[in-house]
Amino acid sequence: MTDIRQITKDNAYDAVSPDDFEAMMNTERYNRRSSAFDKIISATHDHFWDPMDKRYIDFTDSFDSENEMLIDPELVPELKLPSFEKLSEKEKVRFVNETARWMMSAILHGEQGALNLSASLCHILLDPGAQEYAANQAREEARHVTAFAKYVQARWGKPLPCGETLANLLAEMVNAKEVYKKIVGMQLLVEGLAMGTFATFFNTARDPLLVKLCQLAMTDEAFHHKFGKIWADRTIPKLSQEERDIIEDWAASVFQTLLFNLVNPEQKKLIYADFGLDWKQVQAEMLEAVTDEDRREGMKDAANVFRVLVKTLLKAGIITDRTRAFYATYVDMEELKNEDDRMVGDDIAEQGIDFLKTVNFAKKNLLANVAAD
Ligand SMILES: [Fe+2]
Ligand SMILES: [Fe+2]
Repeated sequence: MTDIRQITKDNAYDAVSPDDFEAMMNTERYNRRSSAFDKIISATHDHFWDPMDKRYIDFTDSFDSENEMLIDPELVPELKLPSFEKLSEKEKVRFVNETARWMMSAILHGEQGALNLSASLCHILLDPGAQEYAANQAREEARHVTAFAKYVQARWGKPLPCGETLANLLAEMVNAKEVYKKIVGMQLLVEGLAMGTFATFFNTARDPLLVKLCQLAMTDEAFHHKFGKIWADRTIPKLSQEERDIIEDWAASVFQTLLFNLVNPEQKKLIYADFGLDWKQVQAEMLEAVTDEDRREGMKDAANVFRVLVKTLLKAGIITDRTRAFYATYVDMEELKNEDDRMVGDDIAEQGIDFLKTVNFAKKNLLANVAAD
């Protein structure tokens, strides 16, 4: 065994090193299957969808992206900066749509990260039920990769490269050997970020195809987030002080990376260059325009992605007095504490599942009729 430190408090999340396949063949292990994930495993049939089947989503639906903005320009803070106010109306449309391309590319890379991460969970989790859940998630992330790749292809041809910050973070989580890093980093934070982002696009995007795609992805992501929540419920209350500190610090560092860098102008330098702008100039203008007060104001909106993350961590018990002040710079912690447990986007996901049940039911009937003939 290597010198990695697994912090697991519940048998369902017991883990070994990813190169320890011998441990998987232990004959005692197969009958020690936890039932903790049975509900979310069998629910996968209800929210099945296929990005290659037009009954679910049609990627040939067109959009006049030369003249229309794909997303709400409110999501593009640069437009309010002096350098961008000078752009022609047509260039503004192009900039908003290139920003949408950058965001969709980041989501696509994130989906690839989620696919590889869930597959990696199969290599380290010992519980056969947890493995079955992780394998199911890997299959769902694979359809997200297909779906977002098809969307990007339909609107822009090709995705943009992954920003350095996100690329490093994803690689760190995929390659991590510790279960807590994978679950806190991916299942709670990145999945939470995905739910918040998809909810925002569902509510505000101007391209109906994007609205549809986000809802379909959310029907799956809501369950991925639940897997992280089950881990937290079974793990956090049993941690020693020292173990809790390790997990709390990891969560805070991932949050900080996401908050400060995902929206940092340096990450988008490729796009600015395309408009003849230098990222350092954009950064200077941004620093002037966006204050901590603005960030805090923006987080009052329930769908604000970072607010979703803080709520997730708070409800999971991963924020204590040690890091509370750090998060309180951006979010009213008292207000969050008193909110119910519902996750942003849960309603949108539920409506999406109702739609999928209808399509899946019609498909089943069609098959039964064909078989009867
Ligand atoms: Fe996904
Ligand atoms: Fe996911």
